[in-house]
Amino acid sequence: MTQLFRPSADRALRRILASSAFAFALVVVTGFIIVRSGPFWNVGSPITQPIPFSHAVHAGELGMDCRYCHSSVEVAATAGVPTVETCMGCHSQVWTAASALAPLHASMATGEPLAWNRVHQLPDHVRFHHGIHVARGVECATCHGDVERMAQVRKVETMSMSWCLDCHWDPHARLSSGSVPPDRLAQLDDCSICHY
Ligand code: HEC
Ligand code: HEC
Ligand code: HEC
Ligand code: HEC
Ligand code: HEC
Repeated sequence: MTQLFRPSADRALRRILASSAFAFALVVVTGFIIVRSGPFWNVGSPITQPIPFSHAVHAGELGMDCRYCHSSVEVAATAGVPTVETCMGCHSQVWTAASALAPLHASMATGEPLAWNRVHQLPDHVRFHHGIHVARGVECATCHGDVERMAQVRKVETMSMSWCLDCHWDPHARLSSGSVPPDRLAQLDDCSICHY
């Protein structure tokens, strides 16, 4: 086999390849950081709802417990959003004439549930279970922030895979009570724990 390139040409080629690989990596990494920063995950952005329902009023000023409206949060995968009947338990008596509540009355009349827009929504390939986290002493605020002070709910965390893993790798500092047995802890970053 005859030599096609002089050694110096080979060196030049290697340098070009190395620097373009570096430039490419830089573009990818920068892109990743931009895409994966807060705005990409809708952190901090409020979402318009059919009724301007305020957690600051209900959970804050009126001091209502989260479980009054999100009644399945301790046992089920989903926290659940209250039915119109739950709202009407009070609003058949208070603020009955408020125009902000018109969609509530319409929903009662038609039986059509209110179409609340989702603030948090994991992709279909991810599994999450509220009850297990709440039972282990992870507070609502650890994942959702001070909802009782929010007029409109916003995401305060990305809820990205790396955010989940940050806690799964080392949960103890973030549990208000109890601890995870070592054999269980060792499973918490298995793909199959969180993915179907
Ligand atoms: C009076 C009923 C009521 C109470 C009490 C209440 N919520 Fe809600 N919550 C709602 C309704 C209605 C929605 C859907 C509209 C919205 O997002 O604001 C909601 C939405 C949410 C969401 C966003 C759900 C999504 O789409 O991702 C979170 C998080 C939440 N509540 C947490 C809490 C926490 C934490 C507490 C206690 C501090 C609490 N809620 C107390 C009625 C209530
Ligand atoms: C370990 C983090 C974590 C904790 C603790 C937590 N949540 Fe959530 N919450 C989530 C995630 C993640 C979602 C989105 C779930 C999805 O899209 O499947 C969510 C969604 C919700 C929703 C929207 C409806 C639903 O069930 O998907 C409500 C309401 C809610 N959480 C309320 C609460 C309340 C009230 C508490 C405390 C009792 C609480 N959460 C504790 C992470 C958490
Ligand atoms: C435990 C009783 C109770 C329940 C249940 C309740 N509310 Fe209220 N709500 C009140 C009271 C009391 C006020 C008046 C608060 C004030 O004037 O400061 C109010 C005020 C409001 C207002 C007026 C605007 C504001 O935020 O001040 C809206 C809109 C509203 N509620 C929607 C809802 C919806 C939607 C539900 C069901 C998800 C609901 N409420 C459940 C007691 C309740
Ligand atoms: C603040 C800490 C914390 C965060 C944040 C957190 N987890 Fe967990 N998670 C735990 C702990 C602790 C356990 C173990 C509970 C046990 O085994 O008793 C657990 C268990 C689980 C389980 C096992 C449920 C089962 O079937 O046994 C799933 C699934 C899960 N987490 C998914 C998620 C996902 C998805 C996210 C991110 C959206 C997340 N977790 C964020 C602390 C956290
Ligand atoms: C503690 C929970 C958890 C574990 C464990 C976990 N994932 Fe994920 N993963 C998530 C969540 C949450 C998302 C969705 C983030 C989003 O896009 O909202 C995700 C998304 C992904 C995606 C889609 C791309 C992306 O970044 O959104 C891939 C691929 C993936 N995971 C692979 C894996 C593999 C492989 C493992 C095992 C080595 C693993 N995951 C373990 C929670 C987890």
